[in-house]
Amino acid sequence: MDFIRDFAIPFPVTIVLDLLGLPVERMDEFLGWEHNLLHTSIPEDRRNAIITLKQYLLEEIEKREKNPTDDLISNALNMEAEGRKWTKEEVFGHCFNLFIGGLDTVTANLGFHFHHLATHLDDQQQLREDPAKIELAVMEFMRAYAAVTTIRICNKETKIHGVTIKPGERVAMSTPLGSNDPEAFDNPTEVRLDRRPVHLSFGHGIHRCLGAHLARRELKVAMKDMLTELPEFRLKPGFEVPYLMSNVMHIQELPLVWDA
Ligand code: HEM
Repeated sequence: MDFIRDFAIPFPVTIVLDLLGLPVERMDEFLGWEHNLLHTSIPEDRRNAIITLKQYLLEEIEKREKNPTDDLISNALNMEAEGRKWTKEEVFGHCFNLFIGGLDTVTANLGFHFHHLATHLDDQQQLREDPAKIELAVMEFMRAYAAVTTIRICNKETKIHGVTIKPGERVAMSTPLGSNDPEAFDNPTEVRLDRRPVHLSFGHGIHRCLGAHLARRELKVAMKDMLTELPEFRLKPGFEVPYLMSNVMHIQELPLVWDA
């Protein structure tokens, strides 16, 4: 199977679309917008994707203002902050974050985690023999294969390690680097299934990932069920894994093989 196409994309994406109350039949179109938003270096494509997504979400919000349902977009319309209901712009911002946050991050992590299992058969064997170990193993995979780089705009001149960051400048914070810091983790490039790391892969502070619980659950269920359903799997011999370097790093194709 191509694990990405056949599982890592449809499994988490259908769940998020279902939660948002958006049509699963349009999954490929939504993923196209997501790709242009996060993974292209062509400014025009990025701009068009933002405009298209914004217009679409605003229409969906308006539909639910008239006819509320039990999905997360309708739920956002009842949210309150500082003693008042969220403004339309705030509801839109929240839905936008859920859409871009939820659509490809779990796919990215599934790709890395299953690549590890397909190339480290002893770890795969350990988790098959004792599925109770999956809980901690997923934490360690999240650390070792952190995928997201977050961006902030500096609002106050700040000096870090002799580097001055001026107001208005953008700062990229790479969770892959933070999660592999040798001052924080002993021998960080080594994957230890029982390490129990405190990692940064879901971000840090007030904007820490809202979908972290859902994401962790999906990653654990996927690993448990795949190890139960499939015999020992390996990476297709000779296959060179394509990596996409971006705000959210990805493995774009992952052919897995097993003996019938
Ligand atoms: C393994 C999967 C995931 C990873 C690695 C991940 C990572 C992150 C990171 C690093 C941030 C912080 C962004 C920042 O500080 O600028 C974030 C925020 C966020 N994530 Fe996730 N995420 C994952 C899954 C999800 C899912 C499944 C959803 C939704 C269903 C989601 C929704 C969000 C939202 C709404 C925010 C914004 C929170 C805020 O700004 O207050 N994420 N995520």
